[in-house]
Amino acid sequence: MKQILWNRKTRYRPYTSWSQHHIDQLRAHVATSPWRTQNHIQPFTGLLNDPCAFNYFNGKWHLFYQQYPYGPVHGLKSWHHLTSSDLVTWQDSQGQLLPGGKYDSHGVYTGSGYVEGSTLHLVYTGNVRDKFWNRHSYQMDAILNTENQVFKTSQPMIASVPVGYTNEFRDPYVFDYKKQRYCLVGSQTQNRKGTILLYKQTSHDFWQFRGHIQLPQVLTGYMVECPNIAFVDGHVVLIYCPQGLSRDVLPYENIYPNIAVIADDIDLVNRKLIGKVSVQQLDDGFEFYAARVTDAPDGRRLLISWIGLPEVNSPTERYGWAHCLSYVRTLHVRDHHLCLSPCKELNKLLSKHQQQNNASTITFNNLCGTAEIALKVQADQQICIKLHASDSTPLKVLIDTSIGKTVISRLTSHGFFEQRTGCFPAQKNIDLRLFIDESVFECFVDDGFLCMSGRFYPSAQPQSVIIECIKEIPCIDCWNLERSNDIR
Ligand code: FRU
Repeated sequence: MKQILWNRKTRYRPYTSWSQHHIDQLRAHVATSPWRTQNHIQPFTGLLNDPCAFNYFNGKWHLFYQQYPYGPVHGLKSWHHLTSSDLVTWQDSQGQLLPGGKYDSHGVYTGSGYVEGSTLHLVYTGNVRDKFWNRHSYQMDAILNTENQVFKTSQPMIASVPVGYTNEFRDPYVFDYKKQRYCLVGSQTQNRKGTILLYKQTSHDFWQFRGHIQLPQVLTGYMVECPNIAFVDGHVVLIYCPQGLSRDVLPYENIYPNIAVIADDIDLVNRKLIGKVSVQQLDDGFEFYAARVTDAPDGRRLLISWIGLPEVNSPTERYGWAHCLSYVRTLHVRDHHLCLSPCKELNKLLSKHQQQNNASTITFNNLCGTAEIALKVQADQQICIKLHASDSTPLKVLIDTSIGKTVISRLTSHGFFEQRTGCFPAQKNIDLRLFIDESVFECFVDDGFLCMSGRFYPSAQPQSVIIECIKEIPCIDCWNLERSNDIR
């Protein structure tokens, strides 16, 4: 297909100026791509980034993700709408939140949703660039009705940046606490420190600025993106992306981290965390960013994330698309640590069960691109799980329970391995679940105490997995996963 020179002009062309022919050609190009997923949310064409509104509304799950559909680059962003009745099979909807208004001329940026009566509010950042390419950010409130139609409002819900902060002011997250409605906004102070701002809804259309959440400065880097708050198992969990966080605070290995700050409680009047405060990464794998949390009607706290990172390219771009979302995860706090385990609905996709017992070398074949490998690992055990695709090993997972360490290595397109390391309590029995979906892996150690996810780019579809251990494993299970997305 015709090469497009991606520059400011082409990236910000109005959607209406792109022809159907361009989209048709791009779709045909994407159809030739290896690495398309079978059950992770991926874009039809172009680039997918942050999950935005993720809410249970009108008897269904609704999820909007941010996208640029005309090429695999960060261009003029919009939100794309999906619905689901089970969190694993997603239907495409006609509803889209499109840019182009006075307050979102240069993109519909990240945000969240909240339900009020028979509407789902879609709260987002309107991104505007002026003629000098200076950024202006407005927090906007659109609505989705029960017919899945989107209506934008003409005025911002928060029209200006409070004094003392820069125009890096975005990603509103609305939540209810003690019968009051609040909004968090990711932001930056004039002296370039990251911060999370708090607003309170004091009347139907007025959000009052209350100040910033008082967090130790070492925890906020130079800019905070995508803040969330979740009330989990009697704890308060702030989840956000502190760009520029010092690696002395958390030894993360990616360009930017996505972290959880766990406290016993929060005082929203004084905007202070209460009691013990601990900090961790959400996921220690290669790509995990812009996670979004939500409440399920059955009381669970759920999370979904972008399996991608800002400023990081993907080899799929040469086929006209980039990135995907994670599986939905359930949140729990155990010993002041946030555990993220795959949502139970994923079990619905499991098929073609294979099992092996009492062996120290185990092979499972016929994966056809997808698998869940599940086992209990005893204390003082060392296991190596190698995925095979044609004659190469694109992914290796090493687990050593004697020292509480997991090392995941992936083969890069340059033929060498790069790795990520994660830690968990040593010297105990743990369970392990490793999911493979064509070019995505998600690994859960000790019921989600440690999660490691990312992409890998095999030279052919993954077909077999070999597990080697120093001691016999009593029982190991393997399933295929049914295809659950229609986005081919
Ligand atoms: C995070 C982010 C957000 C912003 C959006 C723009 O990935 O940078 O802060 O709203 O992406 O696409």
